[in-house]
Amino acid sequence: MNADQARQLLERALDEAREAIGSAASLEDLEAARRGFGGKRSPVSQVNESIKSLAPEDRPVVGKAVSAYNAALGDLVDARRDELQVSARDAARVRDAIDLTEGGHGRRRGHLHVVTQVQRELEDVFVGLGFQVAEGPEVETDWYNFEALNMPPAHPARSMWDTLYVRLGRPEQVMLRTHTSPVQIRVMETRKPPIYTVMPGRAYRKETLDARHSPVFHQIEGLVVDRGITFGDMAGTIEAFTRAYFGPDKTSRLRPSFFPFTEPSAEFEVTCTFCDGAGCSVCSRTGWIELGGCGMVDPNVLRAVDIDPEEYSGFAFGFGLDRMAMDRHDIDHIKTFFEDDVRVLEQF
Ligand code: PHE
Repeated sequence: MNADQARQLLERALDEAREAIGSAASLEDLEAARRGFGGKRSPVSQVNESIKSLAPEDRPVVGKAVSAYNAALGDLVDARRDELQVSARDAARVRDAIDLTEGGHGRRRGHLHVVTQVQRELEDVFVGLGFQVAEGPEVETDWYNFEALNMPPAHPARSMWDTLYVRLGRPEQVMLRTHTSPVQIRVMETRKPPIYTVMPGRAYRKETLDARHSPVFHQIEGLVVDRGITFGDMAGTIEAFTRAYFGPDKTSRLRPSFFPFTEPSAEFEVTCTFCDGAGCSVCSRTGWIELGGCGMVDPNVLRAVDIDPEEYSGFAFGFGLDRMAMDRHDIDHIKTFFEDDVRVLEQF
């Protein structure tokens, strides 16, 4: 072999190598092509072997041609390897992709509990009337649940609420709140008038479970304290709320009642939503459904939180949410709300 033959051989080999490498479909194909055109029995290794038998002046020329061939082969292999790796990654990405629009594996999205829905709607109505929303603890002390609400120890009115006490501290000093009214005290302790606040939450009473009574239930409390607040403001607020929540064809009325923390006190009723006031079995033929209690904040309650009753007056109201949710959806037992049977709850 002379220098020309060697160069021609390498040129042809490089053309073939370019062809083979370009069509290598996998990293294994590519490695086979690299060995075939660069390994022990390849054309280039024959040329390399023959260098020592060449004329001395041809040796460096052929030696350079061999290096150039090796470098070119290396570049071709590197370039093809990059291409194959990129397409392998692309293929894997397609193969392993998770279709996030597919909706998961039978998992369904839940929604708010039906009582929470009623609570949120009521909050929205009152926020629309200019009220703020506040919350308080469910475990209360005697001061907040009774004493500050104008019921000193042993006051007979305490028996209006069958209380569940917590074994903590002195006997009968810590309890599950029997109504949301203690939050009135907490709000007035931390904020100076004007106060326009609603306070939703859970309350507890030692009550036997029946269709419409449960030892755990929900209430929303309202409190307004400002200069010059009158009984007329209270009646107007209750009427505005009634129309906003139950609809403009419904109205409200007040009937005399008693609560230790309000004076005068009233019960408020709204047009029966079942018969529109005509009288039916739900409203005992009266056309009205009793919703809750209300009244002008007793001066003793204002004094308990250092608000001057000569300067300020106010009103408060409170009513239950569970029966509202029951009546709205024709649910006949209050236990439906805390049995947590998803098949039932998902219907509302
Ligand atoms: N807290 C009273 C109850 O649960 C309701 C009420 C609230 C009455 C506010 C008057 C003023 O029975």
